[in-house]
Amino acid sequence: IERTLVLVKPDGVRRGLSGEILRRIEAKGYTLVNLQLRAADDALLAAHYAEHEGKPFYAPLVDFMKSGPVLAAVVEGHRVIEGFRTLAGTTDPTAALPGTIRGDLGRDWGLQVQQNLVHGSDSPESAEREIGLWFPQA
Ligand code: GTP
Ligand code: MG
Repeated sequence: IERTLVLVKPDGVRRGLSGEILRRIEAKGYTLVNLQLRAADDALLAAHYAEHEGKPFYAPLVDFMKSGPVLAAVVEGHRVIEGFRTLAGTTDPTAALPGTIRGDLGRDWGLQVQQNLVHGSDSPESAEREIGLWFPQA
């Protein structure tokens, strides 16, 4: 059965949306198999966002991800990688469709980085890698 790494980013935790986001994942029928609320450090974020190193939004993105605790979740189900990204909606919360997490709960706050509430792995390879980074004991 497929697994994905979901993060409720610091904006989601700060706004008290962790429960609502987990509720949507469970209501869709996926299974939470591991959960941890934690502060992310530079080493973890550099590894997690290695593909974005050098892009203009990289430094603000890392600063944002260190601005408060992150809820990391391993979520399981057939086709959950694609399914969670559909639940999340497109990266830009202004463009994300109503019905999605980002479309219903997110907006542009006029900041340097898109504060878009959640992360979801984008491929089986990313999921494997990211689950190993956030849950090294598992
Ligand atoms: P994640 O699930 O968080 O990985 O989002 P994603 O896959 O939809 O986006 P991507 O991996 O391309 O980018 C990671 C994060 O960087 C995004 O979620 C945004 O917070 C931020 N980001 C990505 N692209 C841009 C951009 O063009 N401008 C700004 N300001 N931020 C961006
Ligand atoms: Mg991504």
